[in-house]
Amino acid sequence: MALIAGNWKMNGRKSSVSVLDALLAATVDGVELLVCPPFPLLAAFAERAAGSPVRIGGQDCHAAPDGAHTGDVSADMLADAGCTHVILGHSERRADHGETDAIVGAKVGAAWRAGLVPILCVGETRAEREAGRTLEVVTGQLAGSLPERAGPLVLAYEPVWAIGTGLVPTPGEVAEVHAALAARLGPDVPILYGGSVKAANAAELLAVPHVGGALVGGASLEAGQFLAIARAAPKACMAAA
Ligand code: PGA
Repeated sequence: MALIAGNWKMNGRKSSVSVLDALLAATVDGVELLVCPPFPLLAAFAERAAGSPVRIGGQDCHAAPDGAHTGDVSADMLADAGCTHVILGHSERRADHGETDAIVGAKVGAAWRAGLVPILCVGETRAEREAGRTLEVVTGQLAGSLPERAGPLVLAYEPVWAIGTGLVPTPGEVAEVHAALAARLGPDVPILYGGSVKAANAAELLAVPHVGGALVGGASLEAGQFLAIARAAPKACMAAA
């Protein structure tokens, strides 16, 4: 089943529960919907979505379960708030907070210990792509930030230059990266594509072989857009299988 995940980033207020309500009221067959709002909204969203097929996830976590880490939130706390997933190693965390592969890997381990499904993000910059280093970069990030497998995993391929820019790789470029990642991970790890996924391009991107869903930023903030992407998924992902 395709996973369509919404990464709200630093957007949303308590009133944004109306977006979640629209998702809860909709029926989308053959797709798992995941909403990752900012920390202050997680517990209320998880309570609201309880008993529904819509899952709630965090956007980051600390590697330790508790302790003197002002401003941080642990994977255990996310699980306690009702989350099932956590996005880790997003390029904005790597760039804004200096997260290295080793730091991300420690967080992946913490997510597993807390019973969460980590969504590990990898992706190349524009300069790295132009230098022909895309596969080396993404497989290097994967090797460096994936501890020994101890739980279920989702991977997200997000070219840094495609995030929030409206630029997307060609289906052939997506296929090349997803095939390389799938060869390393095996068939039981869904690999999402992320970076400027919109209703208009979702069907094409989701039909690429080894694309198991999407990680959606901007277009996840509006229920209609997000649902349109989700509705493009089942047919497209089946065609790709
Ligand atoms: P975007 O963001 O869909 O706004 O490009 C994707 C992401 O950063 O996960």
